[in-house]
Amino acid sequence: MQGTEAQRFDIAWVREQFPSLKLKVNGQIAAFLDGPAGTQVPWMVMEAVQNYFASANANTCGAFATSQRNDAMIASTRAVMADLFNCEPSEVVFGQNMTTITFALARSIARELKPGDEIVVTTLDHDANVAPWRALEEKGVVTRQVDIREEDCTLDLDDLKRKITPKTKLVAVGYASNMVGTINPVAEITKLAHEAGALMFVDAVHYAPHGFIDVKALDCDFLVCSPYKFFGPHMGTLYGKREHLQRFKPYKVRPATNAIPDCWETGTQVQELIAGIAAAVEYLVQLGRRCDARAESRREALQTAYRATVPYERTLLMKLLDGLQTIPGVKIYGIADPKRFGERCSTVSLRLGEHNPTKIAAFLGERGIFTWDGNFYALNLSERLGVEQKGGVLRIGLVHYNTADEVDRLLAGLREFLTR
Ligand SMILES: Cc1ncc(COP(=O)(O)O)c(C=O)c1O
Repeated sequence: MQGTEAQRFDIAWVREQFPSLKLKVNGQIAAFLDGPAGTQVPWMVMEAVQNYFASANANTCGAFATSQRNDAMIASTRAVMADLFNCEPSEVVFGQNMTTITFALARSIARELKPGDEIVVTTLDHDANVAPWRALEEKGVVTRQVDIREEDCTLDLDDLKRKITPKTKLVAVGYASNMVGTINPVAEITKLAHEAGALMFVDAVHYAPHGFIDVKALDCDFLVCSPYKFFGPHMGTLYGKREHLQRFKPYKVRPATNAIPDCWETGTQVQELIAGIAAAVEYLVQLGRRCDARAESRREALQTAYRATVPYERTLLMKLLDGLQTIPGVKIYGIADPKRFGERCSTVSLRLGEHNPTKIAAFLGERGIFTWDGNFYALNLSERLGVEQKGGVLRIGLVHYNTADEVDRLLAGLREFLTR
């Protein structure tokens, strides 16, 4: 099945959907290898935002047409996101971005915490899944940080088991690392958290463009992801188990509803972008149906899309890692063994000898090859790997609109940098 879908993966159609992929820099077509910081968006998303302004631009709950259309659009986007998460629409919350959502949720959860209660965070995570929990130390909450295995940048599960204790109230773990691409065994960690009576909070921001999410199978209590990382607009979304959204109390203004999930959405949302979120998911649904027309429901079509994009991304990853290994002085962080590609996604960080990553990124950027340099806010990891003081790493992010040709250009660019 996967093989068939991979064959049907139509990269030409995919690239046609994304107008920005035709941009040129210094005469060269841009190669967007910057996806982990935000992906490009298809026409459908732009059109949805434009259509919102043309026909449904009003605030919520008014007694007139545009407001009613706005409310219907929000309800239907919740249903679309519920299909992406595999939950109920009432368990989907929109917000400004993952960071803002997580700070707000952490504060609300903290209303029930007392000094000495513990929260487990990790060395592998983006700081947006660390700082909001660490901020609760002001209330006497203790945070405990799980280490990594340095040789392959995976979570040290023995350390995790030691750090989860009867005092643990919440475990905050990323689904995939935005720096080194490691995919964590989230279902297994959720079990450990639940056995200790703790809640499980999953940061799926980096995972969402690379893998099919199933909150029921994971059994996590909360999961966050940001549509701008999966071909949509700059916003964040939260899945929260119904019982938790009901039990914890958000900070809110008095006239705003107490009903979930709306009570978790502070003030007026960026509604035009909520319209764009539905279109981003719809793009993936269309991609899935093109890969296999037999996909019936929206969720089945989404699964089909990922069944096609995952193997495609792996072929690009293989090509990239093979090519990097032929460049003198390259150090790759994280899993490099193809047999273990199931434990990672197609995001690769490297250092090129002692060369400054910003200089490499600028050199590539002038040639129309967009990569990122630095720590990408995965500060714990950058410090742990000893690269923080040296400008961090160079990150190459491959998503399904990238091509083998772009990988070749990147490799040629790195070689040219070394011989300049
Ligand atoms: C893994 C991960 N978590 C969290 C964030 C923060 O997301 P947002 O920009 O939506 O606050 C990012 C952003 O790069 C990320 O990559």
